[in-house]
Formats: sequence, C-alpha cells, structure tokens
Amino acid sequence: MNLASPRIVNVSDLRRMARRRLPDAVFDYLDGAADDEVTLKDSQSAFREVMFKPRFAVATPSCELAVTVLGEKLALPFLLAPIGYSRLMHPRGELAASMAAGRNGTAYILSTMSGHRIEDVKAQSTGPTFYQLYLAGGRGAAEGAIARAKAAGYKALFVTIDTPVAGNRERDVRNGMKELMGTNPFKKLKYVPNILAHPSWLLSFIADGMSRPFPNIILPGRGPLAAVDVAAALESAQVTWTDLSWIRKLWDGPIVMKGVMTIEDARRAVDEGAQGIVVSTHAGRQLDGVAASLRVLPGIVEAVGDKTEVLFDGGIRRGSDAVKAIALGAKAVLLGRGYAYGMAAAGDAGIERAIEIFRVDIVRTLKLLGCSSIAELNSSYVTMRPGFRVD
Ligand SMILES: Cc1cc2nc3c(=O)[nH]c(=O)nc-3n(C[C@H](O)[C@H](O)[C@H](O)COP(=O)(O)O)c2cc1C
Repeated sequence: MNLASPRIVNVSDLRRMARRRLPDAVFDYLDGAADDEVTLKDSQSAFREVMFKPRFAVATPSCELAVTVLGEKLALPFLLAPIGYSRLMHPRGELAASMAAGRNGTAYILSTMSGHRIEDVKAQSTGPTFYQLYLAGGRGAAEGAIARAKAAGYKALFVTIDTPVAGNRERDVRNGMKELMGTNPFKKLKYVPNILAHPSWLLSFIADGMSRPFPNIILPGRGPLAAVDVAAALESAQVTWTDLSWIRKLWDGPIVMKGVMTIEDARRAVDEGAQGIVVSTHAGRQLDGVAASLRVLPGIVEAVGDKTEVLFDGGIRRGSDAVKAIALGAKAVLLGRGYAYGMAAAGDAGIERAIEIFRVDIVRTLKLLGCSSIAELNSSYVTMRPGFRVD
C-alpha cells in the first residue's frame, strides 16, 4: 500500500501495514509485550483518562514545537526511542531512523541491540544521537561500546535499568523467535510457512545477509554477540546503581536513567547525578502489571522535575498523547512503536510518514487547545479522571 494513500492517516494504519509486511514472529516481537500485556493495555487506556481543558478564542497563528533536551535544541518535542532488532524489521532499520530524526531536527537513541554499527548510524545522521546502554556481554563489551559511542560523537548515554532479565513475551515463544534465531534448521521448519507467506520481508531479509550478530556488543576475545544468546547475556550482566560510578568514569557527557517508575528511583537517579530520567515501562515488555508510565509521571515530576530532565515514553500513538504527557510535566517524549510501525511498514518513507503524522497532530492539538507553544503547556490544560494517578 502507498503511504500517501488516504488509507494511511494515523499510526494504527502504519501498524496494519507493518502487520501485512512482516512475518508473525517479527510483527509480534514489535507489537507484543510481557505476560498478559496488562501494562501494555494500560499504557494506552491511561491516555483516555486525561482530558483536555481547551482555551478557545485564543490566537495561535503558529505553534512553536522546539524543546531543548540535554542541551540539544530539538525542532520537535519527541525523540526516536531505542528499538532493538530494528534491522530485523527493515534492513535500513537504525540507519533509516537516525537519518529521519536528523532530517526532522530531532534526536535518535541507538539501542545496544542495534543491527547497524555505532559509527555508521552516527555518520548517517545530521541530528543529535544518543546511545542506549545495556551491559549485555559484560563490562568489557560495554566499555568497548561506550568508547566507540564517545569517539563517534554520541551526545548522551541512556542507561536502561528495567531489564535485569528479558520479560516473558509469550508471543515470541509461540512464534518460535528463539528457534528462528538459532542455528538448527530443523527447529525452524514449523515456522517457515508463515515466513514464506511474507515474501517482500523475506527477500529483503535474505538480501541483507539474514540473521547477524550484534555489531556493537563485542565480547572480548570472542567477537560479536549472536542474536540467539541475547537473553542469557542480559541476565548475566544486570545494571545496578553501583555500575553508575564506573560508567561515569568512561563517559563525561550526560547520563539518563531509562525505565524509572517510582519516586524513590527518580530521587536515587538524581542523587547519583543523572542529568535525566525516562519514565517508562519499556513498552510493557518487562514487568507486566506495573501501572502505565503516564500514571506515575505527575508524581515523579513533582518530586524531581526541578532537579533533572524528566522524559516520558509509553503508549504514545497520537500527537495528542504526546501533548498530554508534556502537559503532565514531561520535558519531551520518546516515540517507540509510534515510529517503528512506520519503519517496519516501509523503511525510511514509513518513519518519515510517522514523524509527519505526529508533527501535524501536535500542532493541531496545540491550536485546538489555545496554546501557542510546547513551552507553555502545563497541567492547567488537562484534567485527570479520579483514580488516575499512581504515586
Ligand atoms: C520492539 C521493541 C524493542 C525495544 N528495544 C529496546 C532496547 O533495545 N532498549 C531500550 O532501552 N528500550 C527498548 N524498547 C523500549 C523503547 O525504547 C520505548 O521505551 C518504548 O517502546 C516506548 O513505548 P511505546 O512503544 O508504546 O512508544 C523497545 C521497544 C520495542 C517495542
């Protein structure tokens, strides 16, 4: 389907397009979450419990969307979040995302689980790039990646703290994700018909050299980490608060803790000197049953909003969702699936379309609210249904 078609008007349409192009295993990896997906569902329903309070008959001839995040001036109030295995969804994956972010004046956060090299992603982008760190592969592997990110010119390090072990993503188990990543061809057989039914994805996957190891997780003395070994690598190298002083010695730029969900952790991040935090449930893919990140955002902003930059992600599918999160105190938001569906549907053009959808939506929402800039947004523009907040 053509991206300019009137049938592609919002992120749900991009999601539908991605579903058609991808085999089930890849689509569900992108779309799914942990256990019963309670947190995933709550992430979307929470936005429906925040209602706008517009001011009409206010002139808003233009709306200023610029924000400054970690010292970087961004033309848009959203950044593109780290999405592991982007290259599996589309061969251009991380390259396409960093280029689209740069073209549109915003930042891209590259996942440790990238299929493209740190240096190549940076070289393609004209915007600020940040690096997301897991300790998968241990401190030796992380040291190598941090040094490469620093040398390449990445501006900030996002340390993801919500992944002491990979979440229980049952869709991945049922779809044979592990078997498909593995080397035993007989174990893959059961899943082959579904893959053959998605020839356009399959041809691009073959042309891209098929399943490859992670080029930014280099195990000392052993080479790049194989995709099939990721879960074990994550588990054997959990990030803890005590790692921060070690990371600080390797990285002199801003450090952001990604995956903060309580006031206690937010305060701890501030005490440890984090320049920012991302209030995030990791898209509901880690601990299922935590509240939507939107519900904890107001309390965290009250507690630490004047001490560190509070970013937000989780469930943003419309520009109006981004506006609500910023009204509740986020400095800016991260888009995860919101752009990744576009990437999976159509590579560069799909991400561009997703960004355009969000930009237009945000401007329209601000105008309808009677608010002429992102900077002016505050909690007086929204009201929360009783019982919304979780502290
Ligand atoms: C397919 C997928 C892969 C992800 N990979 C990573 C990752 O490698 N590192 C990380 O910190 N977060 C990762 N995340 C979480 C995102 O960075 C972000 O927090 C989340 O997607 C936001 O929620 P949303 O998808 O509802 O917008 C991933 C999310 C998805 C959906």
